[in-house]
Amino acid sequence: MITPHLVVHDSPDALAHAVARTLTRLVAEAIAARGACTLVVAGGRTPRAIYERLADAPIDWARVTIYFGDERAVPPDDPASNHHMLAAALVDRLGAVRPRVHRIAGELGAEEAARNYAALLGPLERFDVVLLGVGDDGHVASIFPASGLPHDDAPALATQSPVPPHQRVSMSLARLAHTRALLVLVTGAAKAERLRDVHGRIARADPGLPASRIASLVAPDTRFSWHVDAAAGALLPRPPETPA
Ligand code: 6PG
Repeated sequence: MITPHLVVHDSPDALAHAVARTLTRLVAEAIAARGACTLVVAGGRTPRAIYERLADAPIDWARVTIYFGDERAVPPDDPASNHHMLAAALVDRLGAVRPRVHRIAGELGAEEAARNYAALLGPLERFDVVLLGVGDDGHVASIFPASGLPHDDAPALATQSPVPPHQRVSMSLARLAHTRALLVLVTGAAKAERLRDVHGRIARADPGLPASRIASLVAPDTRFSWHVDAAAGALLPRPPETPA
């Protein structure tokens, strides 16, 4: 179980600013090293402010390919769609030079969309950057504790969310962990208790929740960091580190 580097930021705004800068650097490093960058984005509320800042960042989007860590089984223009959120926050705000975006075709239904995405992901090597949020129940992407920890054989799978939209498609934890850099993003006082729980599990090598299990799947050379704001980090056992 890899112990992540923890950075506590003063506010959600400070976190968004710092993580957007970190992502800009990671993308540039990937392009310098391999001529391209693969970025897996997270859905939900937390990353939106980061995506909005990336729209103004000095990134060579022509060399970036974006994948989704998960998606709801809804059409791409549905407000609940992660693709819809990313388009509004980032992609539709870019000029003529845009990243290649591989969306999950949620409108096909979770099972078929998952099969299609698994086929797309199959031959790919390690991602360069993966972003994840953490749910109140300790889920990441759309791997939920209530549904048990599915086998990590298939790179993408259909899952059930306890909150609507219930039908989801998610990359597996193993596929999400197969990356050069993994950044986990958590904000808000409502997550403080869960964040303390998950970090305690990671410290005890307890893979009992998706958010702690992924730490057991990350390779030792993966740059693994947690970025939390002061409210979410309020109950963490150690004094917040100063932001990087
Ligand atoms: C989704 C996300 C999900 C999200 C967490 C945290 O499709 O909703 O992938 O895993 O990251 O639920 O969401 P917030 O950032 O809104 O707290």
